Amino acid sequence: MKTKVTVVGAGNVGATVAQGIAIKEIADVVLVDIVEGVPQGKSLDLNETAPVIKTDSILLGTNGYDDTANSDVVVITAGLPRKPGMSRDDLLWKNEEIVAGVTREVVKRSPNSILVIVSNPLDAMCEVARRVSGFPRERVIGMAGVLDSARMRYFIAAELNVSVENTHAFVLGGHGDTMVPLPRYSTVAGIPITELIAKERIDAIVDRTRNGGAEIVNLLKTSAWYAPGASTVEMVDAILKDKRKILPCAAFLTGEYGLDKLFVGVPVKLGRNGIEQIVEIKLTDDERAALQKSADAVKELVDKLKTA
Ligand code: LAC
Repeated sequence: MKTKVTVVGAGNVGATVAQGIAIKEIADVVLVDIVEGVPQGKSLDLNETAPVIKTDSILLGTNGYDDTANSDVVVITAGLPRKPGMSRDDLLWKNEEIVAGVTREVVKRSPNSILVIVSNPLDAMCEVARRVSGFPRERVIGMAGVLDSARMRYFIAAELNVSVENTHAFVLGGHGDTMVPLPRYSTVAGIPITELIAKERIDAIVDRTRNGGAEIVNLLKTSAWYAPGASTVEMVDAILKDKRKILPCAAFLTGEYGLDKLFVGVPVKLGRNGIEQIVEIKLTDDERAALQKSADAVKELVDKLKTA
């Protein structure tokens, strides 16, 4: 297969992304990690699933970057989870160093690639990748909104006992507890959920969506990976198949939604050029205020970054 996706970080999320790309036969995958044996072992294991799942996507595991050359898309999942005794800022700076280093290595070899950032804190890590790569905003995109809205869709479907396929959900803002789920724009078979679900139940769904990541961490003692992985694959698929699919993603805004020079989750049209369009939807005063609060939380982290 000529199309190539590099996935940096062969942990749970990275491996799930690699597997999803192979299952959908979207591209060949180069899986990179610093831990010796892990990207090689996971790639070999996944390659051995190929005859059974019927895919000709080929995976290559490596500890270096040379094989990543000329990737069409690079997914960055590398980073540390928060450890006991570590402040949010410690995590920010540690992952800033990791994401900056990875970005430097990949863009040297794939100067025309599209970067999909998954590492946390998500919106700030997008800014690190944008600064280090020097790429235009069309080619630095953060994965968060697809995951957050997938969680919300699952909760809506469960509440109404309908197919998840009938659901649609919009979540704007940063990928954190200030994210902004929008019930007015969330629908079941085209009907806004505000007409189908009682207000206190909607509030509970919104709350559970905002805390969706933490709910999993509390159960597993580590971050989620199936839904983050699947959400990343949906973005890569939309890009490489030039689907022009509108998905909520972290994008570098330059005035849209009244926000300037900041990564925030908004609906974007994803196609072969990356972000083909930023879609602006009308917000009520309350929704706008919630988005501003979420943007302020992102800005607070971005202001602490050391990358110039
Ligand atoms: C979550 C992490 C991946 O929301 O950010 O589960």
